[in-house]
Amino acid sequence: MNYLHEAKQLSQAVHNLQGRVAWQSPSNIALIKYWGKHGQQLPDNASVSFTLSKSVTKTEVTYNQADNNENRLEFYFDNARKPEFEQRINKYIENILPYLPFLKDLKLVIRSSNSFPHSAGIASSASSMSALALCLVDIEKQIFENHSSQNTLLQKASFLARIGSGSACRSLFGYAAVWGTSPLVKGSVDTMAVPIEHNIDPVFKTFHDAILVVDATPKSVSSTAGHELMLEHYYRHGRKLQVADNMEKMMHALASGDLDSFIQVVESEALSLHALMMSSEPAFMLLKPNTINIIQRIKAFRETTKLPCAFTLDAGPNIHLLYPHHIKSQIVEFIEQELQPLCFDNVWIDDAVGLGPVCW
Ligand code: DP6
Repeated sequence: MNYLHEAKQLSQAVHNLQGRVAWQSPSNIALIKYWGKHGQQLPDNASVSFTLSKSVTKTEVTYNQADNNENRLEFYFDNARKPEFEQRINKYIENILPYLPFLKDLKLVIRSSNSFPHSAGIASSASSMSALALCLVDIEKQIFENHSSQNTLLQKASFLARIGSGSACRSLFGYAAVWGTSPLVKGSVDTMAVPIEHNIDPVFKTFHDAILVVDATPKSVSSTAGHELMLEHYYRHGRKLQVADNMEKMMHALASGDLDSFIQVVESEALSLHALMMSSEPAFMLLKPNTINIIQRIKAFRETTKLPCAFTLDAGPNIHLLYPHHIKSQIVEFIEQELQPLCFDNVWIDDAVGLGPVCW
Protein backbone atom coordinates (compact mmCIF):
# COMPACT_ATOMS: atom_id res chain seq x y z
CA MET A 1 0.00 0.00 0.00
CA ASN A 2 1.30 3.45 -0.90
CA TYR A 3 0.32 5.49 2.14
CA LEU A 4 1.80 8.73 0.77
CA HIS A 5 -0.40 8.50 -2.31
CA GLU A 6 -3.40 7.67 -0.11
CA ALA A 7 -2.69 10.73 2.06
CA LYS A 8 -2.84 13.03 -0.98
CA GLN A 9 -6.11 11.53 -2.16
CA LEU A 10 -7.68 11.92 1.24
CA SER A 11 -6.78 15.54 1.78
CA GLN A 12 -10.29 16.58 0.70
CA ALA A 13 -13.59 15.50 2.22
CA VAL A 14 -13.07 15.92 5.93
CA HIS A 15 -16.28 15.04 7.71
CA ASN A 16 -16.12 15.14 11.41
CA LEU A 17 -13.43 17.08 13.18
CA GLN A 18 -14.16 15.94 16.65
CA GLY A 19 -14.41 12.59 18.30
CA ARG A 20 -12.83 9.93 20.47
CA VAL A 21 -10.90 6.75 19.73
CA ALA A 22 -9.46 4.24 22.18
CA TRP A 23 -7.25 1.19 21.77
CA GLN A 24 -5.50 -1.27 24.00
CA SER A 25 -2.35 -2.80 22.57
CA PRO A 26 0.06 -5.40 23.93
CA SER A 27 3.79 -5.63 24.29
CA ASN A 28 5.66 -8.39 22.43
CA ILE A 29 8.69 -10.53 23.09
CA ALA A 30 11.12 -11.16 20.25
CA LEU A 31 12.20 -14.72 19.47
CA ILE A 32 14.50 -13.56 16.66
CA LYS A 33 15.88 -10.19 17.67
CA TYR A 34 15.82 -6.91 15.79
CA TRP A 35 19.16 -5.24 16.51
CA GLY A 36 20.49 -2.64 14.09
CA LYS A 37 18.53 -0.35 11.80
CA HIS A 38 18.93 2.15 8.97
CA GLY A 39 16.89 4.82 7.16
CA GLN A 40 13.54 5.63 8.74
CA GLN A 41 13.50 2.77 11.27
CA LEU A 42 14.11 0.02 8.75
CA PRO A 43 15.51 -3.14 10.32
CA ASP A 44 18.90 -4.59 9.42
CA ASN A 45 17.39 -8.07 9.75
CA ALA A 46 14.06 -9.85 9.97
CA SER A 47 12.67 -10.49 13.45
CA VAL A 48 9.92 -12.69 14.90
CA SER A 49 7.94 -12.19 18.08
CA PHE A 50 5.16 -13.54 20.24
CA THR A 51 2.44 -11.04 21.00
CA LEU A 52 1.67 -10.85 24.72
CA SER A 53 -1.71 -10.51 26.39
CA LYS A 54 -1.36 -9.01 29.87
CA SER A 55 1.36 -6.40 29.40
CA VAL A 56 -0.66 -3.77 27.58
CA THR A 57 -1.02 -0.03 27.12
CA LYS A 58 -4.50 1.52 27.02
CA THR A 59 -4.68 4.77 25.10
CA GLU A 60 -7.58 7.11 24.49
CA VAL A 61 -7.37 10.08 22.15
CA THR A 62 -9.98 12.82 21.95
CA TYR A 63 -9.62 15.24 19.08
CA ASN A 64 -11.12 18.42 17.73
CA GLN A 65 -10.26 21.17 15.32
CA ALA A 66 -7.20 23.07 16.53
CA ASP A 67 -7.26 26.74 17.18
CA ASN A 68 -4.19 28.25 15.50
CA ASN A 69 -2.65 29.58 18.67
CA GLU A 70 -3.36 26.85 21.10
CA ASN A 71 -1.13 24.03 22.24
CA ARG A 72 -1.96 21.13 19.90
CA LEU A 73 -1.19 18.28 22.24
CA GLU A 74 -1.86 17.24 25.81
CA PHE A 75 -0.52 13.96 27.06
CA TYR A 76 -1.60 12.36 30.33
CA PHE A 77 -0.12 9.20 31.79
CA ASP A 78 -2.11 7.66 34.64
CA ASN A 79 -4.15 10.89 34.63
CA ALA A 80 -1.12 13.12 35.24
CA ARG A 81 -0.01 15.56 32.56
CA LYS A 82 3.48 14.66 31.25
CA PRO A 83 5.04 17.55 29.33
CA GLU A 84 8.29 15.61 28.89
CA PHE A 85 6.44 13.04 26.74
CA GLU A 86 4.58 15.72 24.79
CA GLN A 87 7.79 16.77 23.11
CA ARG A 88 8.47 13.19 21.99
CA ILE A 89 4.96 12.66 20.73
CA ASN A 90 5.05 15.96 18.85
CA LYS A 91 8.25 14.81 17.16
CA TYR A 92 6.61 11.49 16.28
CA ILE A 93 3.55 13.25 14.84
CA GLU A 94 5.84 15.44 12.77
CA ASN A 95 7.53 12.29 11.41
CA ILE A 96 4.25 10.68 10.36
CA LEU A 97 2.57 13.85 9.06
CA PRO A 98 3.27 12.94 5.41
CA TYR A 99 1.08 9.86 5.96
CA LEU A 100 -1.60 11.49 8.14
CA PRO A 101 -1.55 15.17 7.03
CA PHE A 102 -4.92 15.93 8.66
CA LEU A 103 -3.22 15.71 12.06
CA LYS A 104 -1.83 19.22 11.58
CA ASP A 105 -5.37 20.59 11.89
CA LEU A 106 -6.24 18.74 15.08
CA LYS A 107 -5.82 19.25 18.76
CA LEU A 108 -5.21 15.89 20.46
CA VAL A 109 -5.68 14.98 24.10
CA ILE A 110 -4.02 11.64 24.75
CA ARG A 111 -4.59 9.63 27.92
CA SER A 112 -2.54 6.51 28.45
CA SER A 113 -1.87 3.91 31.12
CA ASN A 114 0.00 0.62 31.33
CA SER A 115 -1.21 -2.64 32.87
CA PHE A 116 2.25 -3.37 34.25
CA PRO A 117 3.73 -1.55 37.23
CA HIS A 118 6.15 1.34 36.65
CA SER A 119 8.71 -0.39 38.76
CA ALA A 120 8.72 -3.57 36.66
CA GLY A 121 11.35 -2.22 34.28
CA ILE A 122 9.36 -3.48 31.29
CA ALA A 123 9.92 -1.62 28.04
CA SER A 124 6.63 -0.05 27.13
CA SER A 125 7.51 1.43 23.75
CA ALA A 126 6.02 -1.51 21.80
CA SER A 127 2.64 -1.39 23.54
CA SER A 128 2.46 2.39 23.79
CA MET A 129 3.51 3.18 20.22
CA SER A 130 1.25 0.52 18.75
CA ALA A 131 -1.74 1.77 20.80
CA LEU A 132 -1.06 5.37 19.75
CA ALA A 133 -0.61 4.47 16.07
CA LEU A 134 -3.90 2.55 16.15
CA CYS A 135 -5.70 5.55 17.64
CA LEU A 136 -4.30 7.86 14.96
CA VAL A 137 -5.28 5.54 12.11
CA ASP A 138 -8.70 5.18 13.69
CA ILE A 139 -9.10 8.98 13.75
CA GLU A 140 -8.34 8.99 10.03
CA LYS A 141 -11.00 6.35 9.54
CA GLN A 142 -13.56 8.41 11.50
CA ILE A 143 -12.95 11.77 9.90
CA PHE A 144 -12.84 10.48 6.34
CA GLU A 145 -15.65 8.01 7.02
CA ASN A 146 -13.62 5.36 5.30
CA HIS A 147 -14.86 1.84 5.69
CA SER A 148 -11.55 0.05 5.43
CA SER A 149 -11.33 -3.39 7.00
CA GLN A 150 -9.82 -4.11 10.40
CA ASN A 151 -6.93 -5.72 8.58
CA THR A 152 -6.19 -2.60 6.57
CA LEU A 153 -6.30 -0.55 9.76
CA LEU A 154 -3.88 -2.89 11.55
CA GLN A 155 -1.45 -2.84 8.62
CA LYS A 156 -1.32 0.92 8.46
CA ALA A 157 -1.00 1.11 12.25
CA SER A 158 1.92 -1.33 12.03
CA PHE A 159 3.57 0.85 9.38
CA LEU A 160 3.16 3.97 11.54
CA ALA A 161 4.04 2.29 14.86
CA ARG A 162 7.34 1.24 13.28
CA ILE A 163 8.27 4.86 12.76
CA GLY A 164 7.76 5.44 16.50
CA SER A 165 9.59 2.34 17.72
CA GLY A 166 10.69 -0.53 15.51
CA SER A 167 9.56 -3.45 17.65
CA ALA A 168 6.12 -1.80 18.14
CA CYS A 169 5.10 -2.74 14.59
CA ARG A 170 4.94 -6.42 15.62
CA SER A 171 2.39 -5.80 18.41
CA LEU A 172 -0.52 -5.23 16.04
CA PHE A 173 -1.13 -8.88 15.26
CA GLY A 174 -2.28 -11.76 17.44
CA TYR A 175 -0.06 -14.67 18.50
CA ALA A 176 3.07 -14.00 16.45
CA ALA A 177 4.43 -11.63 13.81
CA VAL A 178 7.42 -11.19 11.52
CA TRP A 179 8.93 -7.81 10.71
CA GLY A 180 11.54 -7.43 7.99
CA THR A 181 11.92 -8.96 4.57
CA SER A 182 12.59 -12.66 4.68
CA PRO A 183 12.47 -15.10 1.77
CA LEU A 184 10.84 -17.54 4.20
CA VAL A 185 7.78 -15.44 4.99
CA LYS A 186 5.36 -14.56 2.22
CA GLY A 187 4.51 -10.86 2.13
CA SER A 188 7.16 -9.89 4.69
CA VAL A 189 8.51 -6.35 4.26
CA ASP A 190 10.78 -3.92 6.09
CA THR A 191 8.13 -1.23 6.53
CA MET A 192 5.61 -3.15 8.66
CA ALA A 193 5.04 -6.48 10.33
CA VAL A 194 2.93 -9.35 9.03
CA PRO A 195 0.94 -11.85 11.10
CA ILE A 196 2.11 -15.47 11.06
CA GLU A 197 -0.77 -16.87 13.08
CA HIS A 198 -1.51 -19.43 10.39
CA ASN A 199 2.10 -20.59 10.08
CA ILE A 200 2.53 -21.73 13.67
CA ASP A 201 1.74 -24.99 15.41
CA PRO A 202 -1.16 -24.74 17.91
CA VAL A 203 1.17 -25.49 20.82
CA PHE A 204 2.71 -22.02 20.46
CA LYS A 205 -0.70 -20.38 20.87
CA THR A 206 -0.77 -21.82 24.40
CA PHE A 207 2.62 -20.38 25.34
CA HIS A 208 3.15 -18.43 28.53
CA ASP A 209 5.80 -15.81 29.14
CA ALA A 210 6.83 -15.53 32.79
CA ILE A 211 8.53 -12.16 32.99
CA LEU A 212 11.09 -12.33 35.79
CA VAL A 213 11.94 -8.81 36.86
CA VAL A 214 15.62 -8.81 37.77
CA ASP A 215 16.18 -5.08 37.87
CA ALA A 216 13.82 -2.18 37.43
CA THR A 217 16.18 0.78 37.26
CA PRO A 218 16.33 2.66 33.93
CA LYS A 219 18.69 1.13 31.37
CA SER A 220 22.17 2.62 31.11
CA VAL A 221 22.05 2.50 27.30
CA SER A 222 18.81 2.91 25.31
CA SER A 223 17.83 0.50 22.55
CA THR A 224 18.10 3.34 20.06
CA ALA A 225 21.74 3.94 21.05
CA GLY A 226 22.41 0.19 20.95
CA HIS A 227 20.97 -0.13 17.43
CA GLU A 228 23.24 2.68 16.31
CA LEU A 229 26.35 0.87 17.48
CA MET A 230 25.54 -1.92 15.02
CA LEU A 231 26.33 0.38 12.08
CA GLU A 232 30.09 0.01 12.61
CA HIS A 233 30.02 -3.29 14.49
CA TYR A 234 32.76 -5.82 13.66
CA TYR A 235 30.15 -8.60 13.75
CA ARG A 236 27.60 -6.83 11.57
CA HIS A 237 28.03 -9.15 8.62
CA GLY A 238 28.22 -12.24 10.82
CA ARG A 239 25.01 -11.22 12.56
CA LYS A 240 23.22 -11.14 9.19
CA LEU A 241 24.37 -14.67 8.41
CA GLN A 242 23.37 -15.87 11.86
CA VAL A 243 19.87 -14.36 11.58
CA ALA A 244 19.33 -15.95 8.17
CA ASP A 245 20.19 -19.31 9.68
CA ASN A 246 18.19 -18.78 12.87
CA MET A 247 15.17 -17.51 10.91
CA GLU A 248 15.13 -20.70 8.92
CA LYS A 249 15.32 -22.87 12.03
CA MET A 250 12.75 -20.74 13.86
CA MET A 251 10.16 -20.69 11.08
CA HIS A 252 10.54 -24.43 10.75
CA ALA A 253 10.25 -24.99 14.52
CA LEU A 254 7.18 -22.73 14.72
CA ALA A 255 5.47 -24.51 11.82
CA SER A 256 6.24 -28.03 13.00
CA GLY A 257 5.95 -27.59 16.78
CA ASP A 258 9.56 -28.73 17.25
CA LEU A 259 10.12 -27.48 20.80
CA ASP A 260 13.76 -28.59 21.08
CA SER A 261 14.75 -26.58 18.05
CA PHE A 262 12.59 -23.65 19.23
CA ILE A 263 14.41 -23.61 22.59
CA GLN A 264 17.83 -23.80 20.97
CA VAL A 265 17.15 -20.87 18.61
CA VAL A 266 15.37 -18.65 21.17
CA GLU A 267 18.26 -18.95 23.61
CA SER A 268 20.89 -18.49 20.92
CA GLU A 269 19.17 -15.24 19.89
CA ALA A 270 18.93 -13.93 23.45
CA LEU A 271 22.60 -14.54 24.19
CA SER A 272 23.70 -13.26 20.78
CA LEU A 273 21.81 -9.99 21.33
CA HIS A 274 23.70 -9.37 24.54
CA ALA A 275 26.97 -10.57 23.03
CA LEU A 276 26.52 -7.89 20.34
CA MET A 277 26.08 -5.28 23.07
CA MET A 278 29.16 -6.50 24.91
CA SER A 279 31.23 -6.38 21.73
CA SER A 280 30.04 -2.96 20.54
CA GLU A 281 32.37 0.03 20.61
CA PRO A 282 31.89 1.38 23.19
CA ALA A 283 30.91 -1.89 24.81
CA PHE A 284 28.04 -2.08 27.26
CA MET A 285 26.43 -4.76 29.37
CA LEU A 286 22.82 -4.81 30.54
CA LEU A 287 22.92 -8.21 32.21
CA LYS A 288 22.97 -8.33 36.03
CA PRO A 289 24.35 -11.08 38.27
CA ASN A 290 20.84 -12.44 38.87
CA THR A 291 20.15 -12.56 35.13
CA ILE A 292 22.97 -15.11 34.82
CA ASN A 293 21.96 -16.84 38.02
CA ILE A 294 18.41 -17.33 36.71
CA ILE A 295 19.63 -18.51 33.28
CA GLN A 296 21.78 -21.17 34.96
CA ARG A 297 18.89 -22.34 37.11
CA ILE A 298 16.58 -22.58 34.08
CA LYS A 299 19.15 -24.68 32.23
CA ALA A 300 19.66 -26.98 35.22
CA PHE A 301 15.88 -27.32 35.70
CA ARG A 302 15.44 -28.24 32.04
CA GLU A 303 18.29 -30.71 32.19
CA THR A 304 16.76 -32.54 35.18
CA THR A 305 13.07 -32.36 34.33
CA LYS A 306 13.32 -32.45 30.50
CA LEU A 307 10.46 -29.92 30.46
CA PRO A 308 10.38 -27.68 27.36
CA CYS A 309 11.03 -24.15 28.58
CA ALA A 310 13.33 -21.47 27.17
CA PHE A 311 14.69 -18.20 28.47
CA THR A 312 14.96 -15.07 26.42
CA LEU A 313 15.98 -11.48 27.12
CA ASP A 314 15.00 -8.13 25.73
CA ALA A 315 17.38 -5.18 25.79
CA GLY A 316 17.66 -5.30 29.56
CA PRO A 317 18.39 -7.63 32.48
CA ASN A 318 14.91 -9.18 32.83
CA ILE A 319 14.30 -12.78 31.87
CA HIS A 320 11.33 -13.99 29.87
CA LEU A 321 10.67 -17.68 30.51
CA LEU A 322 8.66 -19.16 27.65
CA TYR A 323 6.81 -22.45 28.05
CA PRO A 324 3.66 -24.25 26.79
CA HIS A 325 0.50 -24.29 28.89
CA HIS A 326 0.55 -28.04 29.62
CA ILE A 327 3.56 -27.64 31.95
CA LYS A 328 2.28 -24.53 33.73
CA SER A 329 1.92 -26.00 37.22
CA GLN A 330 5.50 -27.38 37.26
CA ILE A 331 6.90 -24.10 35.93
CA VAL A 332 5.02 -21.93 38.41
CA GLU A 333 6.24 -24.13 41.27
CA PHE A 334 9.81 -23.82 39.97
CA ILE A 335 9.49 -20.04 39.68
CA GLU A 336 8.03 -19.65 43.15
CA GLN A 337 10.63 -21.83 44.78
CA GLU A 338 13.79 -20.96 42.90
CA LEU A 339 13.45 -17.87 40.72
CA GLN A 340 11.13 -15.48 42.51
CA PRO A 341 13.59 -14.91 45.38
CA LEU A 342 16.13 -13.74 42.77
CA CYS A 343 13.73 -11.17 41.32
CA PHE A 344 13.69 -7.52 42.25
CA ASP A 345 11.09 -7.12 45.02
CA ASN A 346 10.03 -10.73 44.21
CA VAL A 347 8.20 -9.43 41.13
CA TRP A 348 7.33 -11.66 38.22
CA ILE A 349 4.51 -11.29 35.72
CA ASP A 350 2.50 -14.24 34.51
CA ASP A 351 1.97 -13.20 30.90
CA ALA A 352 0.99 -15.30 27.88
CA VAL A 353 0.70 -15.22 24.12
CA GLY A 354 -2.38 -13.19 23.16
CA LEU A 355 -4.76 -12.07 20.48
CA GLY A 356 -3.43 -8.58 19.76
CA PRO A 357 -4.98 -5.10 20.13
CA VAL A 358 -8.58 -4.40 21.06
CA CYS A 359 -10.74 -1.33 20.70
CA TRP A 360 -12.36 -0.14 23.95
C1 DP6 B 1 16.19 -5.99 21.88
O1 DP6 B 1 12.13 -1.34 19.12
O2 DP6 B 1 12.98 -0.66 21.37
O3 DP6 B 1 13.87 -5.63 22.10
O4 DP6 B 1 13.29 1.01 17.13
O5 DP6 B 1 14.93 2.28 18.50
O6 DP6 B 1 12.55 2.05 19.28
P1 DP6 B 1 13.71 1.43 18.50
O7 DP6 B 1 14.14 0.14 19.32
P2 DP6 B 1 13.27 -1.01 19.96
O8 DP6 B 1 14.33 -2.21 19.95
C2 DP6 B 1 13.98 -3.44 20.47
C3 DP6 B 1 15.12 -4.33 20.48
C4 DP6 B 1 14.91 -5.67 21.16
C5 DP6 B 1 14.69 -6.76 20.14
C6 DP6 B 1 13.33 -6.86 19.52
O9 DP6 B 1 12.32 -6.49 20.14
O10 DP6 B 1 13.30 -7.40 18.40
